[in-house]
Amino acid sequence: MANILITGGNGQLGQCLASFQALYPEHDYTITDVDDLNICNGDEIIEFTKEGKFDYLINCAAYTAVDKAEHEQVAAKKINADAVKNIGVAAKLNNFKVIHISTDYVFDGRAFKPYSEDAVTIPESFYGQSKLLGEKFLLEEQPDSMVIRTAWLYSEFGNNFVKTMLKLGQEREELKIVADQIGSPTYAKDLAEVVLEVITKIEKDSFPFEPGIYHYSNEGVCSWYDFTINIHELAGIDCNISPIESKEYPTAAPRPHYSVLGKNKIKENYKINIPYWRTSLEKCLKVLVAKQ
Ligand SMILES: NC(=O)c1ccc[n+]([C@@H]2O[C@H](COP(=O)([O-])OP(=O)(O)OC[C@H]3O[C@@H](n4cnc5c(N)ncnc54)[C@H](OP(=O)(O)O)[C@@H]3O)[C@@H](O)[C@H]2O)c1
Repeated sequence: MANILITGGNGQLGQCLASFQALYPEHDYTITDVDDLNICNGDEIIEFTKEGKFDYLINCAAYTAVDKAEHEQVAAKKINADAVKNIGVAAKLNNFKVIHISTDYVFDGRAFKPYSEDAVTIPESFYGQSKLLGEKFLLEEQPDSMVIRTAWLYSEFGNNFVKTMLKLGQEREELKIVADQIGSPTYAKDLAEVVLEVITKIEKDSFPFEPGIYHYSNEGVCSWYDFTINIHELAGIDCNISPIESKEYPTAAPRPHYSVLGKNKIKENYKINIPYWRTSLEKCLKVLVAKQ
């Protein structure tokens, strides 16, 4: 039904998307990572997408090392901003739609209620700044694109907080975890499925492609401390966890204290049902614990 190109396919979200091919067999998928298609090379993207005649490009490629980005600013900007501009240029030229993934770190975290899709963006880390620039570049080059901001991604693939806490919980008797940063943990498989659900709804002509900024995370909120307690409880790990403040766990890049995303636009435009974070965590942990 749709010819879909995925960039950054070896990453966490890319692998989640790949795992849904059988569930959405009506589409054709071309899954690439940096060795097949380097998004930093504008000519390569134009050539690749000209030949492939794609309907959609889902961009999962990114520089995601949040702390390292503070001192590797050139590399982070190149991948998170300049390369996204390349994608926008190619999209306009070769006539495909882009669904680009961005982050809650575009916000400063000083809010007390969920950030709406049009809330003022004030990124505090360089990673957040580079991702925000990528959003702007894409929408300037090809306004007929979708940006989906997400948060606190985890899954059975790649490196993520859930896998780290499972490992540390088994190795250590005690852990100290930050309790004053609040967000919404998001199962990357839920996000991957929503992206494919949106494309499928558009292709079936029941819904229009409505460009612009969207937010997607799982429902509900918690702190990293609450999240860890739940990870260990669901995995049957006995570890003593103490809550600490962010200032007791300094990081190179500042983290938003409150980065809850309001998701009204995606829910209303595409009639999406979003699972509660603990329900999805339970699903992911079943897979992870079975693998151990
Ligand atoms: N992880 C989170 O908690 C989180 C939260 C909010 C938003 N997001 C956003 O969600 C998206 C997906 O995140 P993720 O966790 O799946 O990231 P990830 O696991 O780090 O995957 C990113 C992928 O992009 C590839 N890549 C890097 N440079 C590339 C290039 N020049 N050309 C093509 N591919 C390239 C990476 O390859 P290498 O590994 O070889 O570099 C990697 O396979 C990103 O846009 C991220 O900013 C993530």
